[in-house]
Amino acid sequence: MKKVIIRKTEEIENWRRNINSDINFIPTMGNLHNGHIKLISTAKKDNTNVNLVSIFVNPLQFDDKSDLENYPKTIENDIKISFANGADVIFIPSTEDIYPTNNKSIKFLKASIELSSALCGLNRSGHFDGVCTVVFRLLNLIKPKNLYLGEKDWQQLLILKNLVLTKKLNVAIRSIPTQRDFDGIPLSSRNVHLSKNERKLIKFFSNELLIAKKNFQQDKKISLKEIIKNLSAEKISIEYLEHLHPHTLQQARSEDNISILAGAIRCGETRLIDHVFLMKRKPIIAIDGPAGSGKSTVTKLIAKKLKLLYLDTGAMYRALSWLLIKENIDYKKEKNLQKILKNISIVFKSNENSNQDVFINNYCVTEEIRSQEISSIVSKISSIKELRKFLVEEQRRIGESGGLVAEGRDIGTTVFPDAELKIFLTASIDERAKRRKSDKQSKDSQEIDLHTLKELIKKRDFEDSNREISPLIKANDAIEIITDGYSIHDVVDKIIDLYNDKVPKETQIQ
Ligand code: PAF
Repeated sequence: MKKVIIRKTEEIENWRRNINSDINFIPTMGNLHNGHIKLISTAKKDNTNVNLVSIFVNPLQFDDKSDLENYPKTIENDIKISFANGADVIFIPSTEDIYPTNNKSIKFLKASIELSSALCGLNRSGHFDGVCTVVFRLLNLIKPKNLYLGEKDWQQLLILKNLVLTKKLNVAIRSIPTQRDFDGIPLSSRNVHLSKNERKLIKFFSNELLIAKKNFQQDKKISLKEIIKNLSAEKISIEYLEHLHPHTLQQARSEDNISILAGAIRCGETRLIDHVFLMKRKPIIAIDGPAGSGKSTVTKLIAKKLKLLYLDTGAMYRALSWLLIKENIDYKKEKNLQKILKNISIVFKSNENSNQDVFINNYCVTEEIRSQEISSIVSKISSIKELRKFLVEEQRRIGESGGLVAEGRDIGTTVFPDAELKIFLTASIDERAKRRKSDKQSKDSQEIDLHTLKELIKKRDFEDSNREISPLIKANDAIEIITDGYSIHDVVDKIIDLYNDKVPKETQIQ
């Protein structure tokens, strides 16, 4: 595609009318650094859409006139950087183009009060209203499919997500983690104003946040007082330092697995922000749903794409069922169970095809547990209290430090009720029976007629949903996805989008 620079709103409207492809939009205020480069190049890598970078220093988001006047302007260099890193189109409007004085239909927006009442919103009156106003205006002109933003401005990201939601805008927000300089300080256009000494101070501040994060990983505690004391000892002027819930920006609660520690300091004339996410354990995705909903295929793909551990709890119940049959154990007798559970080890191992094998007491049962014989008793066996208790404990032990995607029937309700993302995956009985029939793993199902398969699925649903302990039910906070008519990849992409929306990218790479 020919590289284009557009400067006028009529021109961009005209260009938009004539373009057929989807657009990735990367809004900037110029003075581009490696953080912007990462945004532009990530958008380029993600898909084949047209990449549009805007450069506009938005006066509405500056509460301080001298900050606006001194904002670094490096337009020629910005154009070079944008094109060199994947921009196809650069939009450089003037203030009159974005806010024409004679156009009464320009909407001046208010940012969400809840989200703009904390952190930077406390001291920068009108700043987020200005951000919402300009982004809304640009989105209406450009109508992109994806909007790329940095997590460095976490509060801005939340406020813009809220704007997209409340205005029902048809755009997906994609974020990238905070990009840092060689010395660990977050990249910002304002860094050019820092003297050597001021840079040292911001480095000290960022490092304090990093230390707090490391300490939190060990003892799950955070002392704001301590950090403030350390910063004050260096004569660092703190605007705020807060420990909050990462999505509501209300005070962090002890039960929150992920929270944000965010601060703003003043270095001479320059105000700088930084944050870290504190995590008790790595994130967890819980995927529950009935047999044949596509859970296993979807979960495996998600694990691969997000580099998470894959925990197939159904396979654990199947492996246990296999052992009980194999060893001819009367599982209705509690005594027999107690004895056998003492000596059981269930382990998952990756095989040479990058799939997972299941071992029970060192015996590989991956294939055997998919037989109709096991399918017909697994629901009964999984309703035995002692067995469930044993396996739930095993599953929690595997998931203790997080970083996994688990599939089953009671993951979101019982095993990991505090999972970051809970999905309830389902499909109509017709669709599930068709899938079972063509399922290469369950060879027996291929020989059963469709009608019988439907009846078997109904029976399994009934047993799973009506058992006394951990019945198959959707957790209150789970998102239901009905997979009829959707490809596996559509469902996987949808779940990954939901995950990226709930879980900061920064915590995904820690
Ligand atoms: O983050 C920024 O650079 C600005 O706030 C944005 C999103 C380009 C709006 O002016």
